[in-house]
Amino acid sequence: MAKEPVRVLVTGAAGQIGYALVPMVARGIMLGADQPVILHMLDIPPAAEALNGVKMELVDAAFPLLKGVVATTDVVEACTGVNVAVMVGGFPRKEGMERKDVMSKNVSIYKSQASALEQHAAPNCKVLVVANPANTNALILKEFAPSIPAKNITCLTRLDHNRALGQISERLNVQVSDVKNVIIWGNHSSTQYPDVNHATVGDKPVRELVKDDEWLNGEFITTVQQRGAAIIKARKLSSALSAASAACDHIRDWVLGTPEGTWVSMGVYSDGSYNVPAGVIYSFPVTCKNGEWTIVQGLAIDEFSRKKLDLTGAELTEEKELAYSCLS
Ligand code: NAD
Ligand code: LMR
Repeated sequence: MAKEPVRVLVTGAAGQIGYALVPMVARGIMLGADQPVILHMLDIPPAAEALNGVKMELVDAAFPLLKGVVATTDVVEACTGVNVAVMVGGFPRKEGMERKDVMSKNVSIYKSQASALEQHAAPNCKVLVVANPANTNALILKEFAPSIPAKNITCLTRLDHNRALGQISERLNVQVSDVKNVIIWGNHSSTQYPDVNHATVGDKPVRELVKDDEWLNGEFITTVQQRGAAIIKARKLSSALSAASAACDHIRDWVLGTPEGTWVSMGVYSDGSYNVPAGVIYSFPVTCKNGEWTIVQGLAIDEFSRKKLDLTGAELTEEKELAYSCLS
């Protein structure tokens, strides 16, 4: 028997990531090749015509799994009945703007969209925040949607996780699918800590295979931390196809489960595991089963890693304070 369609909201759907993401969702890359979907696309009035153009293209693509498209600038219509919400919409930083200016614009968007999701989304809706500052936008969404369980609100660090896999695979000249269990700790920012201390290729530790701790503790980390900026420099636009693909990976693993023996990185509401700050959205290694994530516990953290976990945690605490000062 055919499955009931799942309603997937993409905000900022007329933007770059939206344009890459919606065809992936409609092709079954996010939820599976047997899962029909209804796409809800939200953008703001100045982008309404472009959004309608995206809708026209979705119709023209004749995706067999796509059972309907809602394209709207009305946040209530967009959020109604959605089972999965991918929050990409936001205000990009423009020349001359301070970090606080961007933070201020985006956290207000996430505060107001939190209420719409809380009131109109399907019960148990899973939320993924992509728009920057992703961790803090997700935290604000959680704080202003108190009836949505905290475990249902996450942010995207899978792109950073995939970037780390990509760097190791290039360095060792192995298939990217053979590299497992890297970790992104903390913030989706340049303080994030890409950690390979538990990563493997086949049954061998990555550290033993790379045989170059100086590279692993130096250039590898900075390359992953700065990859977003490097893409912006090269494309004059921020990453889009890799971000869209990572968003699909994040939701697919969350809903359908992570393979046995493998973890992935997700920004989730911190319970203080590994002595990082509680009450912020922090990226941890997680496994997923039956639609729920669980933080991988008991991994050894050496002194070098400890400092990096603390540094990115401190930045998230600071961002939380800044976000609240913007909202007051
Ligand atoms: P973009 O500017 O091309 O698209 C953003 C879209 O959001 C635009 O169409 C805009 O009209 C829309 N928008 C603005 N305010 C909105 C609102 N209140 N409601 C709904 N839509 C709204 O940007 P992009 O390249 O698609 O990137 C989107 C966001 O994702 C940015 O914040 C970017 O920094 C972030 N990003 C995050 C990651 C990650 O890994 N977490 C990776 C890449 C980009
Ligand atoms: C990325 O990681 O590619 C983006 O978050 C970069 C950005 O600042 O938009």
